[in-house]
Amino acid sequence: MNTKTDFLIIGGGISGLSLAKKLANLSPDDKILLITKENLEEGSSFYAQGGIACVWNHSDSFEKHIQDTINAGDGLCNEKVVRKILIQAPERIKELIEIGVQFTRNDAGNYDLGKEGGHSERRILHVNDQTGENIENHLIDLVKKIKNIEIKEHWCAINLFANNYKCYGAYVLDQENDIIHNIAAKATILATGGAGKIYLYTTNPDIASGDGIAMAYRAGATISNMEFYQFHPTCLYHPYAKSFLITEAMRGEGAILKDVRGKEFMQNYHPSKELAPRDIVSRAIDVELKKTGDDHVILDIASYKSPSFIKSHFPGVYETCLKFNIDITKDPIPVVPAAHYCCGGVMTEINGATEVKNLYVIGESACTGLHGANRLASNSLLEGVVCAHECAETLASLSSDLKIKEFKQWEPGHAVPSTEAVIISQNWDEIRRFMWNYVGIVRTNKRLQRAKKRINMLQDEIDQYYWDFKIEKNLVELRNLATVAKIIIVSAISRKESRGIHYNLDHPDKSEMSRATTIKRPW
Ligand code: FAD
Ligand code: SIN
Repeated sequence: MNTKTDFLIIGGGISGLSLAKKLANLSPDDKILLITKENLEEGSSFYAQGGIACVWNHSDSFEKHIQDTINAGDGLCNEKVVRKILIQAPERIKELIEIGVQFTRNDAGNYDLGKEGGHSERRILHVNDQTGENIENHLIDLVKKIKNIEIKEHWCAINLFANNYKCYGAYVLDQENDIIHNIAAKATILATGGAGKIYLYTTNPDIASGDGIAMAYRAGATISNMEFYQFHPTCLYHPYAKSFLITEAMRGEGAILKDVRGKEFMQNYHPSKELAPRDIVSRAIDVELKKTGDDHVILDIASYKSPSFIKSHFPGVYETCLKFNIDITKDPIPVVPAAHYCCGGVMTEINGATEVKNLYVIGESACTGLHGANRLASNSLLEGVVCAHECAETLASLSSDLKIKEFKQWEPGHAVPSTEAVIISQNWDEIRRFMWNYVGIVRTNKRLQRAKKRINMLQDEIDQYYWDFKIEKNLVELRNLATVAKIIIVSAISRKESRGIHYNLDHPDKSEMSRATTIKRPW
């Protein structure tokens, strides 16, 4: 089915929604179509807990925030980009406040600024521990009221239509009506989030299958720094808890990591202990677990803060843990590290521009140079709103020169309804398990080579299945997951050093020649 729009935004997280809101205002005569493959709420943005980093107090300064970001990024941040994004933070955050986001205040009526790993100052604005949900709800309410924005939920982008480094739109599966639309647009913007579902354990929701990164790769864009997949140190460890994060802000308020016998260990790894950058804390937990043979460590806030403090500062974590019979005002919280954030992505300018004409990528799917080899906590929501702003200004200024060009219908070929759906779940499980074991927190050359062999084999099988059977969301995701897993493995093999999140026992030192990894599809 042929559909036309001026701008096609794929993704309804903080970056997609912020872009839609701003672009609709700057370009009121243009039509914007925003699609999401699940409900609008379902994305990492909604689950963000800790908050959004911004220099807000006089005791803080942009220079300090810039330096903290560069230190966490371990030599691979692009300083120009870091400056441009962080200096815009107050302006963008004021816009969130204008649409109704009420960041938590302290008893004196000032914003209650949180602290997280790697930050030298308190600078995290938050809405208790439910910052993402609050921001998303306000953005959704607003965007739904804007006339030139149309929203389609449960529409899953399958692939871009791109030719000769130019993008014309995307093929999209309307899951409820089982129709494939070819949506032609002046510009297509991927705001599809991360790829945590590549790993067995992740804090990410199910939508995070790396679709945007895989689609942009197939369209000819360069993918950068994918070996830097960030592991969050504290994901709830419980057989029935799926992907639940225990916010780093809890360590910022004094919670201590201990082994299951109650022994503290972070003093052996970094002078900042619990508030060391994330890569260091996750690796420390990994070492402790391997040393002791335990399957988790514990995070203890109950011994250091009163029940009323805990309940008022962390109501979301308190309520969720209680569902699993863990009363965090009394009990230690069982935690393990889990895949959390994709520091790499599609190589872009701050405004989302890629090497493929009329294709833009913003948010977690993009690699702007802000995060380098390791993201500083709470810099991601910020990157989402800043890049959406820059992207909206660029698209609005180009709009009158851009044309919509229709392209050919999706060809189902001889595809028939699937008779062997088990292949999807089997391959998905296999990828997630070997990525966790071989391409996880600690890597070796041998483990990476094993992973490469397996992904090559699975990719052949998945490709064949993809063309033989009728398209469905799971299959689209599996194919993308395999593509992104392969890119991570190849990037990790090519990095002959340990830096930031990438830690390889066979190359434990840093190389002086280090630079960003880039991967491009061979044509
Ligand atoms: P997302 O919010 O993930 O949205 C992606 C959107 O793309 C979804 O709407 C999805 O449906 C859509 N989509 C994906 N593929 C397709 C497709 N094929 N077709 C159609 N639609 C598609 N960062 C911080 O800065 N501070 C925090 O406190 C913080 N806490 C976090 C807590 C958790 C539990 C997690 C998982 C992450 C956290 N992060 C935090 C990271 C941050 O939330 C994310 O990086 C950020 O929200 C990503 O926003 P996004 O708009 O790029 O993508
Ligand atoms: C957290 O609340 O610990 C997550 C913060 C982030 O990922 O930036």
